[in-house]
Amino acid sequence: MGEIDVKGTGKLGFGLMRLPRRGIKIDIQQTSKMVDMFMEAGFTYFDTAFVYPGSESAAKKALIDRYPRESYTLATKLLASVVPTENAAKAEFETSLKRTGAGYFDYYLLHSLAANNHRKYEKFHLWDFVKEEKAKGRIKHYGFSFHDSPELLDEILTAHPDAEFVQLQINYADWENPAVQSRGIYEVARKHGKPIVVMEPVKGGSLANPPREVRDIFDKVNPGVSYASWAIRFVASLDGVLTVLSGMSNTDQMADNLSYMKDFKPLTDEELEAIHKAQAVYGKSDLIPCTTCHYCTNGCPKKINIPEIFTAMNMRRGSGQIEKSEEEYAKVTSDGNKASDCIKCRQCEQICPQHIKITEELNKAAGLFD
Ligand SMILES: NC(=O)c1ccc[n+]([C@@H]2O[C@H](COP(=O)([O-])OP(=O)(O)OC[C@H]3O[C@@H](n4cnc5c(N)ncnc54)[C@H](OP(=O)(O)O)[C@@H]3O)[C@@H](O)[C@H]2O)c1
Ligand code: SF4
Ligand code: SF4
Repeated sequence: MGEIDVKGTGKLGFGLMRLPRRGIKIDIQQTSKMVDMFMEAGFTYFDTAFVYPGSESAAKKALIDRYPRESYTLATKLLASVVPTENAAKAEFETSLKRTGAGYFDYYLLHSLAANNHRKYEKFHLWDFVKEEKAKGRIKHYGFSFHDSPELLDEILTAHPDAEFVQLQINYADWENPAVQSRGIYEVARKHGKPIVVMEPVKGGSLANPPREVRDIFDKVNPGVSYASWAIRFVASLDGVLTVLSGMSNTDQMADNLSYMKDFKPLTDEELEAIHKAQAVYGKSDLIPCTTCHYCTNGCPKKINIPEIFTAMNMRRGSGQIEKSEEEYAKVTSDGNKASDCIKCRQCEQICPQHIKITEELNKAAGLFD
């Protein structure tokens, strides 16, 4: 396989991190239906990861066992920060192959590089490892996903010019947000000529339900379309984007996204103007920038439902829904793990891709709710 052709893949990718669930188990029936809808519309890019609970096995059941291997492309990832040794990190690759039964990965990523972990990928020789696996044909293209500053992205791409693509967190609300710097990281990737896979285009779901002020701006220009469509079309309109991963969670979201991405049209000047106005609203916002990725919850010794508590906080901060936020907080802490139970061990802050000061925010939540 040669160079990656950014025009060769449909602009919508299926992110397999938020699949529909029945209880704690992934709903394979609904996931298979979503896969069928996606494939039928001519899209082919699927994105999973070693650390997404149940996702690689669900990909096997809903996709790999049901479609010819060459009819789709599959991406998965290796996360070094969750393992103590080089061997354990490399073993993730074998486990991913076993779980998926895919035989090879079209795209393989070193997962979630940031200032606090990128040296571990060097120390464990993981860049050499992906190169070797590419030579063996078990990886077609390798790259990395990234959650940090433009400066660090520049440094990593300069040290590893062989990286074939990057996966970046880009959405219109965080375009100028100093904590995410979507514009800055996008421009660095463009400078290095790397194809970009966009993750979290809907900011983990929050842009599907924006504040009233933003909804009014969008409704004036394009009433009746989903707010998620604004977010996804914004990133899909950017040059150099290989595909936009949408973490769709049910068939309705899949149908919505296919309706405007099948014959994709970039944003018009009028629509772009509306996006700029919405960005100004988000620029003033004090919402906690949590994308509910849940990376932080597995290792929390107090089993605190961190993202759900932040959702309750944001209800109060975003639209002043005091009663609703109290109800939400009571619901997500009903098993006893309250914000005030936090022992400030800070393991969650080590792993949070959004660099949220989780202990500080929990302290504020404890003051408000406990
Ligand atoms: N490499 C990394 O470090 C990394 C990190 C994060 C994500 N990713 C990848 O990027 C993918 C996308 O990111 P994401 O899943 O975090 O978030 P996302 O795509 O920004 O948000 C998805 C959520 O938006 C809401 N939504 C409402 N209407 C929608 C619509 N029409 N279409 C899509 N979503 C709609 C849904 O939440 P509700 O159902 O709650 O409304 C859905 O779960 C992931 O699935 C994963 O493959 C990679
Ligand atoms: S700092 Fe608090 S919320 Fe974070 S992992 Fe430790 S106990 Fe859990
Ligand atoms: S606090 Fe950070 S790690 Fe935890 S769910 Fe939110 S964004 Fe993800």
